[in-house]
Amino acid sequence: MVTKSLTHVGHMIDSGLLSTILNLIIEEGADYEIIGFNVGKVPADESSIRILLKAENEVLLEATAAKLIALGVRAVGETEAEWVEISRDKAAPADFYSTTNHSTDVFLEGKWQTAVNQRMDAAIVRRDDGPECVKLRDIRRGDKVLVGSSSVRVCLPESESGGGDSFAFMNNDVSSERNATQSAEKIAAQIRDVKEKSGKVVVVAGPVVIHTGGADALAALVRGGWIGGFLGGNAIAVHDLEYRLFGTSLGVDLATGRPTHEGHKNHMMAINTVFNHGSIKAMMEAGELKEGLMFEVIRTGIPYCLAGSIRDDGPLPETEMDMIKAQQAYADIIAGTDMILMLSTMLHSIGTGNMTPSWVKTVCVDINPAVVTKLSDRGSAQTVGVVSDVGLFLRALAGEFETD
Ligand SMILES: NC(=O)c1ccc[n+]([C@@H]2O[C@H](COP(=O)([O-])OP(=O)(O)OC[C@H]3O[C@@H](n4cnc5c(N)ncnc54)[C@H](O)[C@@H]3O)[C@@H](O)[C@H]2O)c1
Repeated sequence: MVTKSLTHVGHMIDSGLLSTILNLIIEEGADYEIIGFNVGKVPADESSIRILLKAENEVLLEATAAKLIALGVRAVGETEAEWVEISRDKAAPADFYSTTNHSTDVFLEGKWQTAVNQRMDAAIVRRDDGPECVKLRDIRRGDKVLVGSSSVRVCLPESESGGGDSFAFMNNDVSSERNATQSAEKIAAQIRDVKEKSGKVVVVAGPVVIHTGGADALAALVRGGWIGGFLGGNAIAVHDLEYRLFGTSLGVDLATGRPTHEGHKNHMMAINTVFNHGSIKAMMEAGELKEGLMFEVIRTGIPYCLAGSIRDDGPLPETEMDMIKAQQAYADIIAGTDMILMLSTMLHSIGTGNMTPSWVKTVCVDINPAVVTKLSDRGSAQTVGVVSDVGLFLRALAGEFETD
């Protein structure tokens, strides 16, 4: 039997984290002994626990410890980080430390140092000025990559570790009965709060925003300066342009809700119009596009990326079809963001979620509760789910800012 001393300090009882930790050890096939336990007396007090983790072999011990460390548990004492210099681009040692989306400290040169560029599913590389999270594909021969988890401490957001947090106003509870207007009111207050502190709000949106009549509302939020970055795919731009040129989205008249004759061709006519100008921007300069979501995004100059996919028609000249470049552009746009609104796109919301640190406030609006739950469960209680028609929600949200 091999053992490892672990500790955790926080609101582990109220949050249910204690039972999660102990259950995980048993589920993994390891065992534990509680060496010490101090229970906080009042809800504001933190509790602390010391656990002796036991396993039949080193492999099971380390694998279980790594999973516990992702929950905010850490090794007792301070162990200097172990780095392995890699001999091939993209290839990390088998026991490299794979990151979570939570803030991560590494014990390096006798002190805890916080890794920069935090994101999930990355390796940690030793740089001259400290540890950095780097995607596997970006690690290079000669880089020193962190192995093992004994020198790592993961700091969960306050709400997830049981502390109070004003943003978790819905307690991560996803309910289709919740009123979209009430949610919009609370989210508008959060957006104002972020902007008052000179923070940044980024939107990730799918074409359903246009189909459900939410385009004008989202365009108004961009025009009003509330949105600092825009992420989407080819389709949202195509359908926004179709709406501006023909009043339809996928051939359906957005004023009457009725399909129009031969309307299915409209999105291709929109793409063709852009091709004739060379770009959406050129179409604006020629005076053929005078309003709308893409118009406001380009006119205000906020950073944006339309990431391509295999489903795309066209694609539009502005759509980035190189997926590595698109992922990088997404990551650059969300860097330093305080809040992200994910609006009815499973593909781009999950893609964005994977590169977003857990302390960024995230709102996911989707008609399907399973999508909202999936995003809420991606590792952060900072995600608030709103099960609603996205058009309805956006009109309510824009309405909150109308008097500003
Ligand atoms: N013509 C085109 O070029 C074209 C057309 C469609 C999609 N695409 C591309 O395919 C990819 C995936 O597209 P996607 O993001 O639409 O698909 P997706 O499946 O990732 O997401 C659609 C989401 O919208 C939700 N939804 C449906 N109706 C809703 C409503 N009324 N209110 C709120 N949510 C609702 C669904 O539950 C789903 O989660 C994107 O890259 C997109 O650009 C391209």
